Amino acid sequence: MTDYTVHELDVPATMDDDPEKVRAFLDWLRVSDAAEVDVHHLPELSWKPEEYLPMCHEPEAPSRLFVVRTDDGSVVAAGSYDTKQAPGTPNCWLAMGVRPDHQRRGVGTLLADHLEGVARADGRTQWKTYAVSRQVGPASGPGYLPAPTGFGAVPEDEAGVRFLTGRGWRFGQVNRISRLALPADPAVVRELHDRAEAAARPGYRVHSWTGRTPDEWLDGLALLETRMSTDAPEGDMEEPEDVWTADRLREHEEELARAPRTMLTVAVEHVESATLTGFTQLAVPNDPARAVMQWDTLVLREHRGHRLGWLLKVVGIERVEQDFPGRPSIITFNAEENRPMLDVNEAVGFVGVGSEGIWERRV
Ligand SMILES: CC(C)(COP(=O)(O)OP(=O)(O)OC[C@H]1O[C@@H](n2cnc3c(N)ncnc32)[C@H](O)[C@@H]1OP(=O)(O)O)[C@@H](O)C(=O)NCCC(=O)NCCS
Repeated sequence: MTDYTVHELDVPATMDDDPEKVRAFLDWLRVSDAAEVDVHHLPELSWKPEEYLPMCHEPEAPSRLFVVRTDDGSVVAAGSYDTKQAPGTPNCWLAMGVRPDHQRRGVGTLLADHLEGVARADGRTQWKTYAVSRQVGPASGPGYLPAPTGFGAVPEDEAGVRFLTGRGWRFGQVNRISRLALPADPAVVRELHDRAEAAARPGYRVHSWTGRTPDEWLDGLALLETRMSTDAPEGDMEEPEDVWTADRLREHEEELARAPRTMLTVAVEHVESATLTGFTQLAVPNDPARAVMQWDTLVLREHRGHRLGWLLKVVGIERVEQDFPGRPSIITFNAEENRPMLDVNEAVGFVGVGSEGIWERRV
């Protein structure tokens, strides 16, 4: 019988680091991607190692990575443990995936026991994880586990859903994974742009840049990043405020700049106060064959209702198409209850291609 053991990786600093460390990281990523693609069948979501590695080195929140190996050294499962370092923060994120050909042999249990043990030893009391799902649309009824938010459900027959339920985790929220095939319909984008601009004018104006945030917007963007942790829908699984400073943002940008992609930021300025009130970020791969990932999008609560979300969205699409032609798609994740954001996405041509359940366990 195969003996399975858990190992923590010494995460390489860069892809030019010690080849042993790099090889272990490549194995980790391959298994992690394989476990997810087996569920959602979206190979576009697989990572390039050069893209993923910088995200493991968030200055104040480095990721810890784990693998399960067989006795011949093959990697059959991949896990991660992420925290914010601010003192007194109760929460942490765990993630795990088992290579499809080694599932149902207790490997997931071994890895989950280990990661939960790490969280306990670290004094964390609010644990979160996610499990990707196939696309089910507005499914409900028998065979589906509804989210307590009242929006969205996940199929009960999926391994991740069974596994987490069995371990006492509580299902909290669904994120929809949406995809916009590029090029988007230019007439639709233009019309939405004109409507959004008419609603936003004259109080707001749009700025956009690639790479480093211009000095004049650094504090403003740090505030928006901070508010991202409190103003985005999170079901009843509250996240503590995650404070961003200008220094932290610069370090974060420098880390991300090591990846073979360009960060495109679109932001809205409130003219009267000369402050930023909303932003969206798109990670554009240098390789034109790869999908653009749309990350955070936020309009501050007090500035909602002026179609600023629409404006951010369409300007982002226009900039990608003009400045980075040839990318096949833009992919984004949104809370299923975030109707304003889903309205924009649907209007512009995004379609749901999968989903992701967010789960919580309090100890
Ligand atoms: C979820 C996952 C990690 C489980 O890994 P695993 O090694 O197969 O899990 P185990 O063998 O330890 O299973 C433990 C229990 O989970 C439940 N379970 C796991 N897979 C199941 C399936 N396909 N159908 C029904 N129950 C299942 C069973 O109760 C199982 O116990 P049993 O085999 O004694 O009946 C794995 O299926 C996976 O990687 N899925 C894709 C990625 C994912 O969803 N990750 C999120 C989970 S946090």
